[in-house]
Amino acid sequence: MRPLLFPLEALVYGPPYAGLQNLIRSPEPLEAESTWELITGEKPALYNLVCGHWPLWPLRWPLLYAKMKQDHVLGIAAHYDVSNEFYELFLDKKYMFYTCADFNRGDETLEEAQQNKADFILKMIDPNPGQKILELGCGWGSMLRRIHQHTGDKENLHGITLSKEQVAYNDEHNGFQVEFDDFITRQYEPETYDTIFSIGAWEHVRPKEVAPLAKKLYGAIKPGGKLVKHFFCRVPDRLFATAICSQIYFPGSIGSPYRANVKAFEEAGFRIVQRTIHDYRPTLRAWFDNLVANRERALELVDVHTYNRYLTFFPVSWRYFDDGMGMLVRWVMEKR
Ligand SMILES: C[S@@+](CC[C@H](N)C(=O)[O-])C[C@H]1O[C@@H](n2cnc3c(N)ncnc32)[C@H](O)[C@@H]1O
Repeated sequence: MRPLLFPLEALVYGPPYAGLQNLIRSPEPLEAESTWELITGEKPALYNLVCGHWPLWPLRWPLLYAKMKQDHVLGIAAHYDVSNEFYELFLDKKYMFYTCADFNRGDETLEEAQQNKADFILKMIDPNPGQKILELGCGWGSMLRRIHQHTGDKENLHGITLSKEQVAYNDEHNGFQVEFDDFITRQYEPETYDTIFSIGAWEHVRPKEVAPLAKKLYGAIKPGGKLVKHFFCRVPDRLFATAICSQIYFPGSIGSPYRANVKAFEEAGFRIVQRTIHDYRPTLRAWFDNLVANRERALELVDVHTYNRYLTFFPVSWRYFDDGMGMLVRWVMEKR
């Protein structure tokens, strides 16, 4: 079956998609360094030319739409509900952030780099006790924990996630007000929150949902309140050929372009008062190394295809940022 699928998928979705699926379907766990090299290494010019144009432009959106018919909510759950212990094998121990860290010097450990990121975002949020704060896509409650350390206030910290495993983890370890809900379709009470923030969850908001959600969030924030957003987005406006590969890792999700985000938030009424750009690549490499170091335990927790999917996910994402297709940004936006 595997040898048959490869040429078929290469013809329809392009060689990178077919190549990745072929690697993931390997009956054996992938060898670490050769997989990293294969995915991140330079390719011959002819290969790049073919991959840059395949699927052909008129077919790109229809093929992507067909793939995106996969349930968005289930797709998110499928990615995050693998098992909490599996994620513990490669994320930092203190916070369990599943988002880009700040390797400011370059030689920090993942733990130190995630602490740098938590401190950086804390300054952006600048929380005070008594302020009602909501995180969209709160993961394992990492940033909520950092805010709680700072303010001592737990009652006013709220989070939303589409992962049941994360809700259970929060209830057991943190005790914040974390709900299982979809922050895109949710109805928000007007002028309820002093601050809404989101770290690495906006990537799941599809392009057509960006503007309506920006307006909804504007309405949910108190006058003078703010929205803090850490997210990566597509640099080119145009959908590039390899974008279809995202469906392997996040079925039903597709990122939005940077400029569309600026337009949507400014039109909703926000003023973007702080913008910074960050480098995701060292974090991806650190997660990859941690997963490889814990390969045996990982393979006790998940099947070989899931292991292979993650082992390819990190170098694929590394390549996406290295090629300048995606950009990791942090914004502070004020409600005017
Ligand atoms: C990459 S993780 C980031 C988690 C956390 N913010 C962190 O920094 O580690 C993305 C999170 O967004 C959540 N998420 C994605 N789309 C969502 C949606 N539409 N509604 C609610 N949660 C969502 C996922 O369940 C997950 O918790």
